[in-house]
Amino acid sequence: MTPTEKYTLLRGRVLDFHSRPEGEADTAAYRYIEDGAILMKDGKIKAVGAYCDVAAKATDAAVTDHRPNLLMAGFIDTHVHFPQVQVIASWGSQLLDWLNNYTFPEETRFESPVHCEAMAGHFYDLLLSHGTTTAVSFCSVHTASVDAYFSEAARRNMCMIGGKVMMDRNAPDALTDTPVSGYDNSKALIDKWHGKGRAHYAITPRFAITSTPEQMEMAGALVAEHPECFVQTHLSENHDEIAFTAELYPQAPDYLGVYESYGLLTPKTLLGHSIHLQPREIEVLAETQAKPVFCPTSNLFLGSGLFDDAGLRSKNIQNAIATDIGAGTSYSMLQTLNEGYKVLQLQNQKLHPLQAFHWITRGNAEVLGLADRIGTLEVGTDADIVVLNSRATPAMDLRMQCAETLSEELFVLQMLGDDRAIAETYVAGKAMKHTSGKTALAEGATRRLVSETA
Ligand code: GUN
Ligand code: FE
Repeated sequence: MTPTEKYTLLRGRVLDFHSRPEGEADTAAYRYIEDGAILMKDGKIKAVGAYCDVAAKATDAAVTDHRPNLLMAGFIDTHVHFPQVQVIASWGSQLLDWLNNYTFPEETRFESPVHCEAMAGHFYDLLLSHGTTTAVSFCSVHTASVDAYFSEAARRNMCMIGGKVMMDRNAPDALTDTPVSGYDNSKALIDKWHGKGRAHYAITPRFAITSTPEQMEMAGALVAEHPECFVQTHLSENHDEIAFTAELYPQAPDYLGVYESYGLLTPKTLLGHSIHLQPREIEVLAETQAKPVFCPTSNLFLGSGLFDDAGLRSKNIQNAIATDIGAGTSYSMLQTLNEGYKVLQLQNQKLHPLQAFHWITRGNAEVLGLADRIGTLEVGTDADIVVLNSRATPAMDLRMQCAETLSEELFVLQMLGDDRAIAETYVAGKAMKHTSGKTALAEGATRRLVSETA
């Protein structure tokens, strides 16, 4: 073994999932090893098991002892907006006003490649400090935002999915493309980035309101020409949005019917929100295997509504879960589960903590069709790993003194955890939380605050 090919061994309590658990007694659905180890080399997982067995196989491995922390697959965020890192926590409006008043003006700043690069640095620092190793992101309409997004991901060797939003109406002029330029630029970006390293492209018509039928048609052509790519958009988030969509597409039977008629629904299609669905739309989701994405912190923040997880699952529809930054209010998938739990409680639906952690790892990986690479700790997969400290804060420590089961511990992490509970994040075998070269906040980057009374 040469020094550059050295094995690394992580010691800790190992947890990953084979399928969605019914509960703690469903031990066939998950693997938990109290004194466990993960052996890594060349960015891949080479062995997993009891520490004594794995250590015996690699006696000269560099050992990092993470006990008593938990080792799990890195978290996956399936819907986020990279150009909204400075939109998060903007007060007072629901979807359409929020887009017009806060989001669109902010996204115009991504015309500048320098701004894109600076924000990409912050975006990835934030993902990694919150334990997220893969995300699916909307970039802005500008190709420079996609270049910055994938360049920075490549620099950190992260498995990232994303694409340029296509939008040719109902937005400021500075933020619109045309059916032809949206198509041409997306195609050039697919050629440039899809399959390069760990990058995957997502064809991204923003939503029905901001695309003309001509643009939808071109987006459909791209999907047909590039079945290897993901597709992402928004669906039935807000009642005013749904009514406006019906005005713009009067021939469509319903909102999903718009995307359906342009050939945008495939098993690789991610539909952010999917809250207020008609029975026909649910049937179409089941038929096409397009995937609804639950964005709980965003749905509460914008007052959008309650996602019917159990109703969709009862039709064998696989749901993803995501932050939806900047309408979402936390980068943390733990906090996303916290709010998700409460959204489901309001509908008398139960989310067991083992199901919750399955969802943000293997569950989301399966929705993306990437469970053979990410989302588990299986041998041969990419070594994207998160290290969780269940006693990271005084409140967590106090509660943990009375926790007796793994499920209880996971629930403490889910309800009380955030970036403080992420002890380390490994990307392709490399520790990144503390060492990824954090992007410095540019001097003077904070805009002068204007007093509300001035
Ligand atoms: N619908 C269209 N664009 C957006 C967006 O940026 N955020 C959310 N939450 N919904 C959208
Ligand atoms: Fe969104």
